[in-house]
Amino acid sequence: MHPIEWTDALRLGYQPMDQVHHELVDLLALAQTAPDEALPQAWSAVLEHTVQHFGREDDWMRQTRFTPADGHMLQHRMVLNLIREGLAMARSKQLHPVREMADELAAWLLKHIQQHDAALALHLQREPSDMAPLRASRAGRPVGAAHPR
Ligand SMILES: [Fe+2]
Ligand SMILES: [Fe+2]
Repeated sequence: MHPIEWTDALRLGYQPMDQVHHELVDLLALAQTAPDEALPQAWSAVLEHTVQHFGREDDWMRQTRFTPADGHMLQHRMVLNLIREGLAMARSKQLHPVREMADELAAWLLKHIQQHDAALALHLQREPSDMAPLRASRAGRPVGAAHPR
């Protein structure tokens, strides 16, 4: 598979999500093209990003009581577990399955953004106005920043 690339088709019109998705696409492309010696580090960066990325979306779903959230959160959990397994494999020099996983993750991500994340982005943009300060306070914050409670 060609390395994943950011395109306008992935843009959901909700800036905090678009920014995070663009970051993941770039990190994943780096992992897909990393030479053997750099793959464990590249995969570790994908994992680190994804923990924050999925955690942030899960928080948004909980805080806005997004009803189809369970399936979306379940996907996050399952994929995160796979990425963690991938890191263990990368560190024990089993690089071939990690390369396969990178391609599968890229294919999954394209679908996930356009289905699950698109529905969440639409929901967040339709939040009642009393959620607007919450939304504004998060815009532009780096993915690793702490979530307000
Ligand atoms: Fe996402
Ligand atoms: Fe998601």
